[in-house]
Amino acid sequence: MSKPKVFITRQIPQAGLDLLKDKVDLEIWEKNEPPPYSILLDKVQEVEGLLCLLTDQIDQQLINQAPHLKVISQMAVGYDNIDINTATIRGIPVGHTPGVLTEATADLTWALLMAITRRITEAQEYIKQGKWTTWQPMGLLGADFVGATLGIIGLGRIGQAVARRGKGFNLKVIYHKPRRLYPKLEQELGVNYVSFEQLLKESDFISLHTPLTERTYHLIGENELKLMKQTAFLINTARGGIIDQNALCYALQQGQIAGAALDVTEPEPLPKEHQLLTLSNVIVTPHIGSASYQTRFQMAIMAAQNLLAGLQGQPLPNCVNPNIY
Ligand code: DGY
Repeated sequence: MSKPKVFITRQIPQAGLDLLKDKVDLEIWEKNEPPPYSILLDKVQEVEGLLCLLTDQIDQQLINQAPHLKVISQMAVGYDNIDINTATIRGIPVGHTPGVLTEATADLTWALLMAITRRITEAQEYIKQGKWTTWQPMGLLGADFVGATLGIIGLGRIGQAVARRGKGFNLKVIYHKPRRLYPKLEQELGVNYVSFEQLLKESDFISLHTPLTERTYHLIGENELKLMKQTAFLINTARGGIIDQNALCYALQQGQIAGAALDVTEPEPLPKEHQLLTLSNVIVTPHIGSASYQTRFQMAIMAAQNLLAGLQGQPLPNCVNPNIY
């Protein structure tokens, strides 16, 4: 019996490939850069399974040009690059990889928060440029955690993992999300629910953990930045599109807020000459929230499992649109 054809849009950890190699007829895009859209369009015409990444644009046109496609399996928890509506109409399940990257992403969020508030990258530059001559009583002073308030926007898995870290550092943790958590969970996490506006006004550090949707696109813009404290820091390890970057640049230059640390930007990567990359009170990292060994292995395994289930017509272990069944 012939094996189902599958296209994988990049090399993924071997643990995932091992699950697939005997069961499917595999083609892997071997280059470091994502396949161009025209190539993707071409490839999906042939395949029953697509294993893709957040860098691939899986839109209506593409899905509708894939007559044999039985499953789309994304190796990421976020899926804003995929037209879920069209996939659902076509009866194609979409898989993703929630849970396994929660702790790694929360760790990176914490690393960025510590780094921007204590000016780690600035300090590193200072030394590398030979500017450090002596210990200075007033040199490179940063923000205090004692008595500070952490505001979390979106308290799903990753937001909750960040909240736990916040409690460990004795921060007051407040949050906002469309649907409030049950009181028992709030109590367990030690978090207080506040309105969006209150969160912006009261937080010393704001961390974004909401998916990118039409509703959250540019959620943080000019007005929101104006409401924040001048001493506040903004951390984003979710999706770049949640922040209006022009407004953020302006706010940072004008001293409306103290700094920002961004693991995600719009677009990715930012052009080399982008203003954000010239500001000393900004840290930008290349979307590495889930980039730990075990996390990426687990993500690859989950993506392979979702793919195999879809090819066999079984419900996906982690499905974004389970209503198709
Ligand atoms: C995700 O999974 O959505 C992250 O952004 C990358 O791992």
